[in-house]
Amino acid sequence: MIETERLILRPFQKGDAEDLYEYLHEPMVHCFASMRLKSLDEAREEVAKRVKETEYLFAIVLKENSKVIGEIDAYPESGEPHKDENAVLDNFSPCWMLNKNYFGKGYAYEAAHAFFDYLFYEKGARRIYAYTEDYNASSQKLCEKLGMRREGMFMEFVSFVNDSDGNPIYENTIQYAILKKEWNK
Ligand SMILES: CC(C)(COP(=O)(O)OP(=O)(O)OC[C@H]1O[C@@H](n2cnc3c(N)ncnc32)[C@H](O)[C@@H]1OP(=O)(O)O)[C@@H](O)C(=O)NCCC(=O)NCCS
Repeated sequence: MIETERLILRPFQKGDAEDLYEYLHEPMVHCFASMRLKSLDEAREEVAKRVKETEYLFAIVLKENSKVIGEIDAYPESGEPHKDENAVLDNFSPCWMLNKNYFGKGYAYEAAHAFFDYLFYEKGARRIYAYTEDYNASSQKLCEKLGMRREGMFMEFVSFVNDSDGNPIYENTIQYAILKKEWNK
């Protein structure tokens, strides 16, 4: 569990299905389209899978009323694509998502800042990088507030959804990153 002034970051729990459904029945951005939950039953199934995850996936919970208002996760990766199974897993790429009713209150920054501390100081992170689409201004702003460097833009890098004719819609993706030695400063 991670505690901040207004939030608790904790693993998902059985009773979180309604709150999860509230923000995942209509994901706000294409990159989370595959996470869409069509019903509360699907949300319950999803929570049942998530409760086993205790290290790298956290519900963002408001202290004042214990509501789950979003989530943040990142898993250890090797920084180099062709490394073997002995590679050091010291890279992490966070995903963050809030219930839209809680945007614009600083909760994402508060959660992400505490999560970065956790990854750098407890989970061996050396480098944290984030992908965000070129139209996702709020996510870019969050990366910048966290002190991440904009490292580049990958044109038509990835497709999450198709157009009405079934052709992939490719997105331009910006990469941000921060190293532990930069975070320490
Ligand atoms: C990306 C996302 C998590 C950012 O959430 P957010 O609420 O905009 O981010 P922050 O927590 O940094 O809040 C920033 C805003 O809160 C305001 N704020 C209000 N009270 C505040 C407080 N006490 N402390 C800090 N900021 C506060 C800030 O002024 C800022 O407003 P601004 O954007 O008008 O400048 C959110 O937009 C989201 O979930 N989007 C959908 C999912 C998504 O796109 N994920 C990323 C995929 S790459």
